[in-house]
Amino acid sequence: MKICTDPSQMQSIALSLREQGKTIGFVPTMGFLHEGHASLIRIARSKCDFLIVSIFVNPLQFGENEDLDTYPTDHESDERLCTTEGVDLIFRPLSLYDTNHNTYVNVKQLTERLCGASRPTHFQGVCTVVARLFGLVQPNIAVFGEKDYQQLAVIRQFVRDLAMPIDIIGAPLIRDEDGVALSSRNQYLNPDQRIQAQTISQALFSVQAELKKTALDVHSIRQLVRQILDVDELDYLECIDPVLLVPVTNIDKPTRLLIAAWVGQTRLIDNILLEP
Ligand code: PAF
Repeated sequence: MKICTDPSQMQSIALSLREQGKTIGFVPTMGFLHEGHASLIRIARSKCDFLIVSIFVNPLQFGENEDLDTYPTDHESDERLCTTEGVDLIFRPLSLYDTNHNTYVNVKQLTERLCGASRPTHFQGVCTVVARLFGLVQPNIAVFGEKDYQQLAVIRQFVRDLAMPIDIIGAPLIRDEDGVALSSRNQYLNPDQRIQAQTISQALFSVQAELKKTALDVHSIRQLVRQILDVDELDYLECIDPVLLVPVTNIDKPTRLLIAAWVGQTRLIDNILLEP
């Protein structure tokens, strides 16, 4: 497995692979890789000749008081995971933007609600880094997790709008044994907070189970979730159309239930598919 830290060298490698007719698969990450990332890597591995994983903690997608300075890293463990999963190349640049970088990718509408409401510059940062990574890595396919449900929808939109010839693949959310959605940020949680975090998936699963027995509207879903949730602050709890991401009031077709909540200083997100 190669490790490349230089953006122009990365692009030369990618262009030469494409010239040779190789299919490039890509999994962009911010490192501190876990089983959730491994599942994305496995999907990409099965669909390409050459698999690239990027590791870059992107300053542009963090707000002023967010955890950019404390975001966890572990290069050795990341390399082990990538070797085990058959990654061909890790792209781990120290910096990614030129000093006079002045182009930002801004997707409207989809980014204005949900996570975008409390993190107003977040998706612009995500789309800008993903666009630049796509330019450097030249992927045919790229895999993103459904855990960041809104991020996946926003990336699909910008790739479509900018006519990028890249197949965006969504991968199912992976949970720990206690139900908590896997996230690099889970390592901020102390044992008591971990128990609080479990109530998020417990609430989602209860709604899913209740829907199997009886019809529920969004009002009763909110009530049910609030009875179970034990978090420090609920950022949002929304039932949305899975494609358009607009709120629905009745669960009469497949719907996505999304939650963002604070446990201590940690903001956690989770979601589940609801079927009537
Ligand atoms: O999902 C993430 O880890 C990040 O938002 C991404 C897509 C790697 C962009 O920095």
